[in-house]
Amino acid sequence: MQASFPAVVISGTGLYRPPHVITNAELVAAFNAYADLQNAEHAAAIAAGERQPLTHSSVEFIEKASGIKQRYVIDKAGVLDPARMYPRFEPRPDEQLSLMAEIAVDAARKALAQAGKTGADVDAVLCSSANMQRAYPAMAVEIQQALGAGGYGFDMNVACSSATFALEQAVNAVRTGSARCVLVVNPEITSAHLEWRDRDCHFIFGDVCTALIVERADTATGADQWEVLGTQLVTQFSSNIRNNFGFMNRAEDRDPNDRDLTFYQEGRKVFKDVVPMAAAHIEGHLAKLGLEPTQMRRFWLHQANQGMNQFVIRKLVGGEAGSEIAPLILDEYANTASAGSIIAFHHHRADLAAGDTGVICSFGAGYSIGSVVVKKR
Ligand SMILES: CC(C)(COP(=O)(O)OP(=O)(O)OC[C@H]1O[C@@H](n2cnc3c(N)ncnc32)[C@H](O)[C@@H]1OP(=O)(O)O)[C@@H](O)C(=O)NCCC(=O)NCCS
Repeated sequence: MQASFPAVVISGTGLYRPPHVITNAELVAAFNAYADLQNAEHAAAIAAGERQPLTHSSVEFIEKASGIKQRYVIDKAGVLDPARMYPRFEPRPDEQLSLMAEIAVDAARKALAQAGKTGADVDAVLCSSANMQRAYPAMAVEIQQALGAGGYGFDMNVACSSATFALEQAVNAVRTGSARCVLVVNPEITSAHLEWRDRDCHFIFGDVCTALIVERADTATGADQWEVLGTQLVTQFSSNIRNNFGFMNRAEDRDPNDRDLTFYQEGRKVFKDVVPMAAAHIEGHLAKLGLEPTQMRRFWLHQANQGMNQFVIRKLVGGEAGSEIAPLILDEYANTASAGSIIAFHHHRADLAAGDTGVICSFGAGYSIGSVVVKKR
């Protein structure tokens, strides 16, 4: 019955990029200074064999294992302070726009401008992100008000797949008529949930916010429109990427510094599990639409690991994942959770022509995989 639904397009994208860059060299210097401080503080326990010394991190390892060269962050000083190792944000009064809403509004305004729309044209706001700044009121409702949008807003979280899962909700809302123009925002303040003191993962994340405008094709006036041919989502439970932070921590008498209250993962297991899942998911989704992977002009993939994307592309089209097929943005942005595939779409679509098709695909914690097949109009 799909044929009776109106065509839906992505008519604008926007990107908030934080002001500060942390290079791998700066990051490693801060981590190594932290490790030296810790080892000096615990020298007696280390000498007595009661504690293992912390080992230095290395730029070479980070670049070889992940492809990440730098990341953007909202606060640099706190992250690089070896006596702190996490960002410092000023608490804001309830009357002031919250930080997460602020970066979402910035990205949203850019996406709206590209789509030739204003906030008043929007009648649904989905704020979808791996971490929310607070429990309630929903971030989306604050963003809705700041933009002068109507309709409704709600928050959702599917970790690194938050953006693609939100895109499906947006597309369905427009198709079925519950909204005419949906704003999807993905504010990812990953610096606040990354454990910068853990050598295994301190290099992984960066801050950013992406925004997308989803509307009926017959209301779209922007110059750059991408018809959504289909969306497909899948989840399969795994604890290999996990964060146990939550509202019950206080009741559990937890130390807020407990290691499992920030991001942790079994990176190698994730790599092995997710590559075949993602490739099969994309292939299955395309087959349902009567399409072949080799017909795709571009794959805008999740940005966690350069090697992972190369394996996915090799499984799909049998060749190397050059920037023409699967552009990488993680060298510049690092892993930005749900925003990664959207940043790739934002930066790397201008060269495609009318009729060209491609796949936006995320993969991450849950596990969760979401694919969105789009065609340039
Ligand atoms: C995280 C990731 C980059 C790690 O790369 P990896 O090749 O799997 O590395 P491993 O964790 O197996 O560690 C390999 C070695 O490097 C060492 N190492 C780890 N971090 C290091 C660092 N920062 N500097 C130097 N050495 C390091 C390890 O101790 C290990 O040493 P050993 O072989 O002596 O035991 C990689 O597994 C990955 O990206 N996985 C996918 C994760 C993902 O997609 N997650 C989604 C998040 S949203």
